[in-house]
Amino acid sequence: MAVLKNKVCLVTGAAGLLGSGFAEALLEAGARVGLLDINDKALKSQEKRLKKKYQGRCLAVQVDITNEENIRKAHQMILRHFGRIDVLINNAANDPKVKKGVNSHFSRFEHFPLEQWEADCAVGLRGSFLCCKIFGAQMAQQRSGVIVNIASDLSVIAPDQRIYAQAGLKESDQPVKPVTYSVIKTGLLGLTRYLATYWAHRNVRVNALSPGGIYTGQPQAFVKRLTDLVPMGRMAEISEYRKAMIFLCSDASKYMTGQNLIMDGGRSVW
Ligand SMILES: NC(=O)c1ccc[n+]([C@@H]2O[C@H](COP(=O)([O-])OP(=O)(O)OC[C@H]3O[C@@H](n4cnc5c(N)ncnc54)[C@H](O)[C@@H]3O)[C@@H](O)[C@H]2O)c1
Repeated sequence: MAVLKNKVCLVTGAAGLLGSGFAEALLEAGARVGLLDINDKALKSQEKRLKKKYQGRCLAVQVDITNEENIRKAHQMILRHFGRIDVLINNAANDPKVKKGVNSHFSRFEHFPLEQWEADCAVGLRGSFLCCKIFGAQMAQQRSGVIVNIASDLSVIAPDQRIYAQAGLKESDQPVKPVTYSVIKTGLLGLTRYLATYWAHRNVRVNALSPGGIYTGQPQAFVKRLTDLVPMGRMAEISEYRKAMIFLCSDASKYMTGQNLIMDGGRSVW
């Protein structure tokens, strides 16, 4: 069912794991999609794949969302191509992934480099703020639109650092979920509530989607420790967030704004 027929939807971080899935779900629902990402190579390959499958209804726009000038240029390009903007999904992030071996992104608080703090917050918070400022303002001017901020179950609970532990390392060397992750995801809920009320009279709805951990072949020991914290006993499948995104972007959620849709297998209620 083409519930988003001809709607113009922008997805930041569209070359990544969740972003490419969201873009595809929106295209399937009939939308025209602007794929925004800093990674030009990955972006172009997504664009090629999606254009072929969805009769050219998407446009790749290479953009660094931490740079206001860059976003303004992207805005002009999008307006020239699509003529309007109906949906913005703030999904891009400096996203730390759990891999085998010590991951340098998983830095302990006492040693967390200021440059990493600045870099993570620049994408997660400044980038989302700037995209709302420029693309959101366009929707406010059109008196219609939807913003979805991608948060995380860690927007409402603290990370359980025990699940990232690696055997044989002393405590001071144990990897942890970085502090920036919690700060950014919690901050995005603030941005969600602020804009939901700020633009309500302009018919721009703003909500957050909080996914739980998605299974992508992480080490078995990590998966066991994480799934023990999840009442449903498993990690998420990437496809499980697609219909939620369509719900948030379409009229199915037209009386919903300022909310955080948490889909974490129940982890945050245990
Ligand atoms: N993967 C998970 O299990 C999971 C769980 C909960 C929440 N999330 C959230 O979902 C979102 C997507 O996560 P993912 O796993 O797909 O990450 P990912 O690393 O696969 O994708 C992130 C994308 O953002 C892009 N990006 C980074 N900096 C950018 C910049 N300055 N300008 C434009 N684009 C930039 C990257 O190039 C990349 O393509 C993130 O906000 C993440 O925190 C992910």
